Amino acid sequence: MLTAIINLSYLVGALAFVWGLRRLSSPDTAKEGNRLAGIGMGIAIVATLVAPSGGGDGNYAWIAVSLVIGTGIGWRAAKKVAMTDMPQLVSVFNGLGGACAVALAGLELGQVANGMKETSTSSLAILLTTLLIGGVAFTGSILAYLKLDGKVKDEKIILPQHSGINMIFLLGLVVFAAYLGWSSGNISWLTIGMFTVLTLVYGLSFVAPIGGADMPVVISLLNSFSGLSAAAAGMIYDNQIMLVGGILVGASGTILTVLMCNAMNRSLLNVLIGGFGGTAAASKAATGDQNIREVGLADLAIQLYYSDKVMVVPGYGLAVAQAQKAVKELDELLENNGVEVKYGIHPVAGRMPGHMNVLLAEVDIPYSKLLDLEEANEELKTTDVVLVVGANDVVNPSAEDDPGSSIYGMPVLQVWNAKHVVVLKRSMSPGYAGIENPLFFHAKNKMLFGDAKASLQALVAEVKAQ
Ligand code: TAP
Repeated sequence: MLTAIINLSYLVGALAFVWGLRRLSSPDTAKEGNRLAGIGMGIAIVATLVAPSGGGDGNYAWIAVSLVIGTGIGWRAAKKVAMTDMPQLVSVFNGLGGACAVALAGLELGQVANGMKETSTSSLAILLTTLLIGGVAFTGSILAYLKLDGKVKDEKIILPQHSGINMIFLLGLVVFAAYLGWSSGNISWLTIGMFTVLTLVYGLSFVAPIGGADMPVVISLLNSFSGLSAAAAGMIYDNQIMLVGGILVGASGTILTVLMCNAMNRSLLNVLIGGFGGTAAASKAATGDQNIREVGLADLAIQLYYSDKVMVVPGYGLAVAQAQKAVKELDELLENNGVEVKYGIHPVAGRMPGHMNVLLAEVDIPYSKLLDLEEANEELKTTDVVLVVGANDVVNPSAEDDPGSSIYGMPVLQVWNAKHVVVLKRSMSPGYAGIENPLFFHAKNKMLFGDAKASLQALVAEVKAQ
């Protein structure tokens, strides 16, 4: 009877995970989806604890204390974190997931080493895989966190031929794992210890050559690793809900990684080997008219005020300047004057998935105003003025017409199809891809130089004066 209840609880928990994940796919329902998945996890934990093997040998007190401490730290960290530091928090959570997998696999392998447990080759293979993937997720995520937080500088930890070294390192680990898995006689505290240390070092070496700005892709990949290690641990303990949860995290992390790579028009291998940017030499320099036209605040304010349709295209610079509040103010002023204001959201604008959505949601800009790439490109054809706020690569026409460009083939927002374009940025500096943007010299384009927040605040004042 108890087993039936536990299995039913696992099923309910798994359904809550799947349905929660589904709800997470839209900003409107994301909060509810998160809550639902959390409830699923709660059910899974309780069901696992009341299962006959759940408390181990009277370990409930230890489990309760750990749960309280873990919940407290997790709650506080999630409450305190700034929106812009979210990738760091995700990275730490991934790392902890990996560390758990290492601890579980290490414990089981230790019992094999002590002769307390008999294992088959397939069980050994699962244990070693858990240790390997969990170890990479653990130290890789910690290094990713340190890089993202600016505590470690990229160039300090890259060796010559680093990707080649990593290939050989991984091959060595697989051979070592095959040796250990060959017979349980090869498992001793020394061999497990060596394998664990090498796995942890490999995690660091795996992430080391990847550039800081590529970190979101790597974090998503490490997230999928932590899910896979949890799934493998679920196999070790024959725990279905752990298996399902791990597979869901592994699969969604993998899909997100692929989507991000596609949106940047880069292969995963290219991201992992590192070295994005700096390919500007291969790209043709903007030819023809190289004049930059600047726009005055008063002129722009009038133009916006008397437009029918305005589109804001936010980018990384909006996040740097924290200009979302000023955007909202401008939006309200224009809407009150009957101007339709929409937002063109590129899937990789900013530095993390959903970066722009999160910033705009912070100031309560309705989701219905946010257009995805295809919708925005359609709408741009009938737009009077586009305000490109701190975006660069995502509006670069080279992606469409310069085969030598490093971003050639990446779908971009075709802002040049609108009647007028105004780019708000501080200088002519390139964006993340490190390449020139011919949009800045386009006949329809004008520049408004300055910090995006300061420019928008000044613009708001001008519009108010109309
Ligand atoms: P970017 O191409 O990086 O351009 C951002 C621009 O913002 C810069 O050119 C910079 O110019 C300007 N800027 C910076 N601070 C500013 C401030 N305070 N005020 C005004 N402007 C400021 O950004 P994007 O167009 O959003 O493109 C994103 C890039 O990141 C893409 O190449 C994408 O592939 C990459 N990427 C994205 C992700 C995800 S998941 N979103 C992950 C990894 C990589 P100034 O210095 O002249 O001001």
